[in-house]
Amino acid sequence: MDWGLKNRLARIIKHHDNRGVMLAVDHGYFLGPTERLENPRKTIAPLLPHADSLMLTRGVLRTSVDASYPIPVVLRVSGGSSIIGKDLSNEKITTSIKEAIRLNVSALAMSIFVGASHEHESLVSLGNLVNEGEEYGIPVLAVTAVGKELEKRDARYLGLACRIAAEFGAHLVKTYYCENFEKVVNACPVPVIIAGGPKLATELDALKLTYDAIHSGAAGVDMGRNIWQSDHPVAMLKAVKAIVHQNLTVKEAYEIFNKLKHVEKPAAATKPATKSGQKSSRKS
Ligand code: R5P
Repeated sequence: MDWGLKNRLARIIKHHDNRGVMLAVDHGYFLGPTERLENPRKTIAPLLPHADSLMLTRGVLRTSVDASYPIPVVLRVSGGSSIIGKDLSNEKITTSIKEAIRLNVSALAMSIFVGASHEHESLVSLGNLVNEGEEYGIPVLAVTAVGKELEKRDARYLGLACRIAAEFGAHLVKTYYCENFEKVVNACPVPVIIAGGPKLATELDALKLTYDAIHSGAAGVDMGRNIWQSDHPVAMLKAVKAIVHQNLTVKEAYEIFNKLKHVEKPAAATKPATKSGQKSSRKS
């Protein structure tokens, strides 16, 4: 691996423990004003000091994150469909490598749709993006998206999608946690991180998900809604980070969450989710 690419990857997956905590705030690229991410700057600002890296689109990066803040950026460069459109798998690369370089990003991220109607296009796009990333020393994160078919999230499907992503040259893969997750990780020769998925019933559930993923071999998380849809997002992010980097148990991390939530002002309640920001019909 070339020095530049290795250096950028080390900003995301930390060298001391080979793990990373990525904060995902790219949801608006197909969901619009997702609940509690309606005002991205307001949601992101208090969380920035506690994440290892930030995953988002160029639009939210430019408008809602100060350029002087030294957080590594993972830039979503694919898109082209919305939650109210016909086919979420119909994505293309929407942001150029020149733009990514201008924005000084640490990695490029795009979704692949294995088994979906636009499987072929998304996989060819991944290959092309890796070609460009390799040329300029920028790693590529492949997101194994499931569209609206959340039931696809089992070890057989996710293992297939992660392995294909790695075969196409992705340097890092994001997928969902599932039963027998070790099989997914063991068959994927590059680090695997997990999305949190739709908000779980409790913070304890999300901490358990994090712990189970890490202890089945995940290299970290790329988590969004289970952090910033919590009433105590900073406490939640710190508790997740403690599991990832300090090997805390679920009980210990939950204690941290409970202790910190008392010093954090609850996140402002928002209007119920709009059609474009509904919780259930979404993809990764
Ligand atoms: C969705 O397509 C995005 O890539 C999200 O970044 C990803 O799903 C992680 O966010 P969450 O933890 O909310 O699922």
